[in-house]
Amino acid sequence: MASRGGFSNKLGFILAAAGSAVGLGNIWKFPFEVGNGGGAAFVLLYLSFCFILCFPVMITEIAIGRKTSLNPVGAFNALGFKNWNIVGKLGILCGVLILSFYNVVAGWAFGYFVEMVQGHFDIGQKFGGFISNIVKVGGYAVIFMFSTAFIVSKGVSGGIEKAAKILMPTLIIMILGLVAYAMTLPNATKGISFYLVPDFSEININVIGGALRQAFFSLSLGMGALITYGSYVGKDDNIVSSAAYITLMDVGIAFIAGLMIFPFVAFNLGGDMQQVTEPGFGGPGLIFVTLPSVFENIGGALGIIIGSLFFLLLSFAALTSTVSLLEVPVAYVVDEHKVNRNKAVWLVAGIIFILGIPSLLSGGYSEFFSNFSRIIGVPEVIDGDFLSFVAALADVLLLLGGCLIVFFAGHVWKKHNLDAEISQGFEGYEKSFVKKFLNFTITILSPIILAILFILVFFNNFIGIDIMSMIS
Ligand code: PFF
Repeated sequence: MASRGGFSNKLGFILAAAGSAVGLGNIWKFPFEVGNGGGAAFVLLYLSFCFILCFPVMITEIAIGRKTSLNPVGAFNALGFKNWNIVGKLGILCGVLILSFYNVVAGWAFGYFVEMVQGHFDIGQKFGGFISNIVKVGGYAVIFMFSTAFIVSKGVSGGIEKAAKILMPTLIIMILGLVAYAMTLPNATKGISFYLVPDFSEININVIGGALRQAFFSLSLGMGALITYGSYVGKDDNIVSSAAYITLMDVGIAFIAGLMIFPFVAFNLGGDMQQVTEPGFGGPGLIFVTLPSVFENIGGALGIIIGSLFFLLLSFAALTSTVSLLEVPVAYVVDEHKVNRNKAVWLVAGIIFILGIPSLLSGGYSEFFSNFSRIIGVPEVIDGDFLSFVAALADVLLLLGGCLIVFFAGHVWKKHNLDAEISQGFEGYEKSFVKKFLNFTITILSPIILAILFILVFFNNFIGIDIMSMIS
């Protein structure tokens, strides 16, 4: 197993896994989901899902990975359940799908950094033109995929862990600096109260489903990313406390990102936060359209510095996530097909880049891909373009994957085997409250709730049948 490499210590693993978790999902997606979901009520749901439903899934994934020291497909085989390796295959497919569009958005973030450094504040108004300029966004996407592959090609401790150890602390310092600055802007408190004072009348099945999908995506769960990272974890590390740190860092940074974005937005709207919930305001464009004009209003050299820092922060957060997304199929090809790591990295990165071309074209360059879901007849619940379609598809597949992984661990591989793995590195686990909590969540609560929400969200978004309104 030595040849597969591994993290040098517990901190290395925690930073790399937190790097996977903290990404565009926290800084780009979380604020607009909060906007669409009516503010603080969404935040509360999201936090509960992270700690009650997702935390046990994370522990399960890491334990399966560490037990087998293998990729998500090999792991199910090694445990003696070959039929279940379909769950691993689904995970790898999901990782490939996510990286194909995620790399495109990461390229936008990097492109915006380049524009901000040059003081091009009007880029926000030109967002549509920017994402349909295929040469530019294509170029940025190539740079991003290349950087990702370069890091992954350097191996687990020499590439992934090293990058996380540099990028994560830098990211935390940058985000805290930006929050401190955002708080000083006029109307900041109006933004904060929209973000933190809950209005429970906004909660419906879409908001609940949205909060759970966001929790899964943000914690990188349901596709075996943490089975893969878990396979590089030391045998005497405490899995439960590692998972707790990763969850806290991810949730903490999403929460802090809100403390930065909503004051920025409130500043721009003159404090009229109602506009944020109106259709067409939030969405994927929230940070790409709105924030550049915030930086323009700040103006001058300070505007350039704050704007450039923000998009650099976004690019760094994205990079530690694209690295983990690429590592999943790479580990599979290396373990199962015995391909040399370097070759596997460049081959897989190239294939995923090509699969991302429709997403690249869906920003207005190609009529067909820009109106994809309308043309193929998927319900309008999902935005029309191909990128949003793939993102929504991957989101529901993560719920399905997560559901199957916990069901597998609790009822097929059996909970006592999972417990034996968790207790390595966690003295006193057998008698702990954590064990009772995991007993209930892994064998009963998580699989049931995940199955129900997967079905509701799938029917609602892809078939156009709103089961909830049929029942009530
Ligand atoms: N967690 C990442 C984010 O919030 O941006 C996205 C992600 C990375 C999802 C890795 C899944 C994954 F395996």
